[in-house]
Amino acid sequence: MCGIVGYVGKSQARDFLLEGLKRLEYRGYDSAGVAFFNREAFKIARKTGRVANLAASVHANDLDGSMGISHTRWATHGDVTEDNAHPQTSSDGLFTLVHNGVIENFSQIKNFLEEQGYTFSSQTDTESLANLIAYHYAKEPEQNGKNRFFVSVRKALLHVHGTYGIVVMCRDYPGELVGARNGSPLIVGIGDGEFYVASDASAFAGKSQNVVYLNDGEVIHFDSKNFNIKTIADEAVEAVVQKIENRLEDYDLGDFRHYMEKEIFEQPNALQNAMRGRFSDDNSTAKFGGLNIEPHELRQIDRILFCACGTAWHACLVAEYMIEKYARIPVEVEYASEFRYRNAPLDKNTLVVVISQSGETIDTLAALKEAKRKGYRVFAITNAVGSTIAREVHGGVYQHAGPEIGVASTKAFTSQALIAAMLALYLGRIRDMSYSEGAKFVTALKTLPELVNNVLNQSDQILAIAKKYAQYEDFLFLGRQNMFPIALEGALKLKEISYIHAEGYPAAEMKHGPIALISEKCPSLFLATGGEIFSKTLANIQEVKARKGKVIVIATDSCEFPEDLVDDLIRVPDCHDALQPILACIPVQLLSYYIAVERGCDVDKPRNLAKSVTVE
Ligand code: M6R
Repeated sequence: MCGIVGYVGKSQARDFLLEGLKRLEYRGYDSAGVAFFNREAFKIARKTGRVANLAASVHANDLDGSMGISHTRWATHGDVTEDNAHPQTSSDGLFTLVHNGVIENFSQIKNFLEEQGYTFSSQTDTESLANLIAYHYAKEPEQNGKNRFFVSVRKALLHVHGTYGIVVMCRDYPGELVGARNGSPLIVGIGDGEFYVASDASAFAGKSQNVVYLNDGEVIHFDSKNFNIKTIADEAVEAVVQKIENRLEDYDLGDFRHYMEKEIFEQPNALQNAMRGRFSDDNSTAKFGGLNIEPHELRQIDRILFCACGTAWHACLVAEYMIEKYARIPVEVEYASEFRYRNAPLDKNTLVVVISQSGETIDTLAALKEAKRKGYRVFAITNAVGSTIAREVHGGVYQHAGPEIGVASTKAFTSQALIAAMLALYLGRIRDMSYSEGAKFVTALKTLPELVNNVLNQSDQILAIAKKYAQYEDFLFLGRQNMFPIALEGALKLKEISYIHAEGYPAAEMKHGPIALISEKCPSLFLATGGEIFSKTLANIQEVKARKGKVIVIATDSCEFPEDLVDDLIRVPDCHDALQPILACIPVQLLSYYIAVERGCDVDKPRNLAKSVTVE
């Protein structure tokens, strides 16, 4: 939530900042702002709406500077207005800063500072921090060898409760920036005679692959040549410079209209990447390089707890079905936001696994920290290399799906489901799964990208169906067993990007309440696979039809339907049971996407949402 981009160096900052902000817009997009600084006053522009509005104003007023900070906002404190957009400036005009996070004790800070004569012109929590830094700066004596700017930011932060990633400029210190982090990410990219700083390395894709991830409680001071990191408590920190892949082409939309569309069609590749190098030499099991645990230790695990939020939580449900079925290990799934406060009793041989595309979701991070604090071993399945979650866990699996920019998660979900299947295979093979069952599993997994491609080839048919249903205002998504998580995911996808009310249920649960919603105005989408429960699903479809509900079915090739039972049918190939949820999810994603486009919705930036939820 909220994206920060800053620059100091040999070039002018404008183009980099605006480009970087556009790339971080997925983090929040209700308003945006920028401050440039050479030697005199800060040059500040703030606009409500998208980064494009800000860019127009910056160009119209010919603003630029050799250093600058910028911000794209997802409002927490204060309405969406220019006054509340960042940067926020101290009332003495000496400091201006951008902030991602929430200052929980901002009212106390504000009251105190008002008594000291500082004034406020916004409703934000951030302005209290700008003034607090100014207050400490005013108190700080000039001393040889001490950077008063750096010291004042550090001292101010000692009084702050809450989360922050910040970057600050001081009018007395041209060419210098100070950043800090607590709970909200901040990454510094090292260039040649220049530094970039951002909430996410994508802001400086194509410019720097050498980065320093700030840890919680750290403050960084840098000019165009050097940087120095300390803790807020003034201890020296030895910086670790890491090399990351940060390619510009990964952010290119190509011929697609939206990132969501691009990411849906990238799934064959994303799935291939999740599997690359991860099968044993005898092709009978999966292998993972980063679990940091020996098979004999894993055999001691007698329960797995999965925690996540949103779509990643649905991936946990997929994992539950797979791991219980193939590895016979009991699995529980918890919302991370519930787990962190619930104080759940866990068995001592429990493994905790968190799933997070961004690796920054605050509730998931808090859940993992709580599990770690209690002494549990914690794994993560995450897409974002170097993310906070990736750095906090004992071990885990990277998805390698490439950056996911559309707010609605698509390729990240299917790759999480695939990794769950591979984990089920791996855990099964160190327990009771036979060599031949494992080998069949691996053979099936290898066909997955091709099968997904076949489903994607039906996009024209799915588009035609989407056009028929785009004007409905309610939808039910129904599926049994391993299709239940896909029903939930389908409902979430549809509602978040098209604002249609949608609910996902296990198909049999329909009779216990949701059936009351069914009428010709509320279509139902069924997810059907062949096998022993197909007849039960058929009966549920009959029940909907009997109440004049329209029925769309996503079914495997072997499912046969009586004539006239189904209004619209989308076929997916029959395949290994572990792959069915992944294949069935593709038409669900396409249908939601096409419906949202048909309704004229802003697919990649749906209202009220942000890609990465870093506030509670
Ligand atoms: O980055 P994470 O996977 O931790 O994000 C979790 C959810 O915020 C995310 O999946 C959200 O539900 C998506 N908008 C769903 O499309």
